[in-house]
Amino acid sequence: MKYTLQFRIWHWLNALVVLGLLATFFLRKTFLSWKTNSEIIVTKLADIGVEITSQQAAVIAKAIRAGMWEWHIIFGYALAFLMIYRIVLFFFDSSKKESFSSLDIHHKMVRVSYYVVYTTLFFMSISGLAIHFYESIGISKEFAHDIKEIHELLAYVLVYFTPLHIIGVFVAENRGERGLVSTMISGKEN
Ligand code: HEM
Ligand code: HEM
Repeated sequence: MKYTLQFRIWHWLNALVVLGLLATFFLRKTFLSWKTNSEIIVTKLADIGVEITSQQAAVIAKAIRAGMWEWHIIFGYALAFLMIYRIVLFFFDSSKKESFSSLDIHHKMVRVSYYVVYTTLFFMSISGLAIHFYESIGISKEFAHDIKEIHELLAYVLVYFTPLHIIGVFVAENRGERGLVSTMISGKEN
């Protein structure tokens, strides 16, 4: 057994939650963008003879987006929980991973990319919770805004890592690492 059941469950739950968080980000920037939708609302209402200001349209567009964005927070709590789960695994899990020094250069880089991703995920959880609860934890609105800027910037680490990781395991699976994905499912190395 290479990966314990609890480690595999962690990996797949984490994958789902991160994909969910990225999906909410994607929707916020595209189909549910308040800028795009408020323009649509202004023009379509004008077509039927109703005049509203762009500020009024923005309020409507943001209200339409709100239900979707609640999922960012729901997935956000799930990610925070998964980070605690990952810390517990770090101390108590017996999955067998090669030592860093035994890896070739390629696998050293893969391993480093995981460290970068773990660091990013931890930061995203803490910063996300901090912006969500800024009032109750006594952070100023300005500081919460600065944290949000970094939160948004670091989101791109996951925007790039996620497809590269999925393509990477597909390529590796076809180049001498057959069974890589099934090991993450069954835990067993072939
Ligand atoms: C949905 C498609 C995915 C597949 C098929 C997949 C598959 C795998 C496989 C086979 C490994 C082991 C690779 C190795 O030995 O180096 C792995 C590791 C890992 N995956 Fe994924 N993954 C997916 C999605 C994700 C997503 C969305 C994340 C989000 C961040 C993620 C995070 C990780 C991490 C952090 C590791 C390293 C685990 C460790 O050794 O500590 N994976 N994945
Ligand atoms: C993979 C992890 C995450 C990614 C990729 C991500 C991505 C983003 C992005 C890109 C934004 C900026 C949206 C914009 O203003 O256009 C954002 C905002 C935000 N995120 Fe996250 N996030 C993640 C995790 C979390 C977590 C764990 C929480 C905790 C609950 C959270 C809570 C928030 C909040 C409260 C905002 C501010 C929303 C607003 O200004 O209305 N995020 N996130």
